[in-house]
This record gives sequence, C-alpha cells and structure tokens, in this order.
Amino acid sequence: MTGLPPTFSRQAIAMVDSQRVLAEDTYAIRLHCPDIAERILPGQFIMLRPAFGTDPLLGRPFALYDTYTDLSGEPAGIEFGYVTVGKMTTLMTEWTGGEEVEVWGPLGNGFPRVECNHLMFVAGGIGQTPFLATARELLEEKKFGTEPRPDVPLPKKVSMCYGVRSESYLGGLDDFDIEGLDLKIATDDGSAGHHGYVTELLKESLSGPDAPDCIFCCGPEPMMAAVAKICEEAKVECWLSLETPMACGFGACFSCVTKVKMEDGSWDYKRVCVEGPVFRAECLVHDD
Ligand code: FES
Repeated sequence: MTGLPPTFSRQAIAMVDSQRVLAEDTYAIRLHCPDIAERILPGQFIMLRPAFGTDPLLGRPFALYDTYTDLSGEPAGIEFGYVTVGKMTTLMTEWTGGEEVEVWGPLGNGFPRVECNHLMFVAGGIGQTPFLATARELLEEKKFGTEPRPDVPLPKKVSMCYGVRSESYLGGLDDFDIEGLDLKIATDDGSAGHHGYVTELLKESLSGPDAPDCIFCCGPEPMMAAVAKICEEAKVECWLSLETPMACGFGACFSCVTKVKMEDGSWDYKRVCVEGPVFRAECLVHDD
C-alpha cells in the first residue's frame, strides 16, 4: 500500500447545478466547483452548508460520488449523494439548481492504492456513494486528481456487495453498471437480490473460489464492525471509510475523533476528517 499525494483544499461559495433522485429518501446533487472537481480523489469528501443564514450553522460532510465536466471536457463540479435524516438534508431536497452553498474541500485521505488480486467493496445504506468514483478509477474508466496516482498495479478483479433495507432504497444501480464491476445485492426483506444482510454475501464470497483478498467498506457502524470482524477471522485486509459526524472538516475542532491503536499497544484519538475517513480496520479500537 502506498500513501496518497498531498491534497489541496479550497473554501468557496458554489452553486447547485442540479439534483436527481437516486432511491427512496436518497438523492444526488451536482455542485459547480471546478477547483475542487479537478483535484478531489475517490474516498475524499467535502463539507457543505447553506451560504446564507445560521440555521443550520455547521457544515455536513458528503463523500465524493463522481465528478462531471463542462462542454469542453474541463472539470466543472462534483456530485455527492445523501439520504434525508435531519434538518439540513431535508432542506437540501428542495434545491433544484441555482442555490448558493458554502463548500470546502477536498478533505480527508481517500482510499489507498492496495496491491491485491480481487478488491471487493462492501456497502450498506448510503455507504455505496464513495465507491462509484473508486470503481471508475480502478477499472480505468476515469481519472481523478491532478497528481500522478501511486504506482501500484490495479486489482485484477473489482466487485461490490451492496445491502439495503428494501429494493426501493437501492440507489444509483444504473451508475454502478460499469464494465468489469461484479455487483451483488442484498436486501433485508428479500425484495431484491440476496434475502438477508450484506455481510452474508461477504462471508459467502470469502469462502468461495476467487475470494477477495482486500475489502473496502462503508456503511452503518454495526455493519462495518461486523465486516471488520469477518475479515479479521478470514485474515483478509480490510479498510473502513468512517461516517463520523463532523463540525469543521479540517482538523480544528476534534469533534470527529476515533480511537486508533498505536505501535506500543496503547491507543490515541485520531481525527477522522484529517487522518481518515479511511482507516485500516485492524488499527481501530472498537468499544464494547
Ligand atoms: Fe473538526 Fe474533524 S471535524 S477536527
């Protein structure tokens, strides 16, 4: 594994270009921000809040879903996904284009380049959003950022297991129709794909032929803890993209800390917004 190049961040007022429905209570917004679009990498995120007023006061983090270009092919903006869970995201559903927002980014470390044969994404709920750009890059459909990417061979196979409560919550399946991406679905109620949890698909894959030798995971905390445990037992490398609430997004407020194991056996707090959001699962301390 090699590290990612240093990042560049900007704070700016940006305009909403458009919004689309991805699934039930799930949306994707295109935001015009060429500077950020040019530099953002898969697994990184932005912070966003309305440009005017004080309610909501704090920004919210949103993972990169994809970037888009203008008519001349130059980076024009980023697209991010979200699910409605509170005041800010409910307000955001009313945005149709032309609204001004305050945005800062790109932020965070993004996914590492890992040398492996078969890389599998395991996503739950809205946790599929960081994997669209990641899949497009690893399957050589699209390039991200301005710096040369780490010189690590690409995985021979990329697959994804994606689980939600019910079929109506499956967001962006058309977007994930990428050549070379093997996609498996799980729903809790059995309305689409495997009837059960996405972790059951993971276990099945790990015990079958062509098992993944590296996992990238994003989703609700209990699901990620379960994925980390399964990977630990199977001795498979696992990276988690944490969805921790954040206030500043750039390392100043310490509202986003998580416990990380240190080399001497102790643990210390690390900021998810700066040292993460992507961590090696075995480095994290899981409170009982
Ligand atoms: Fe402020 Fe991470 S959100 S330090």
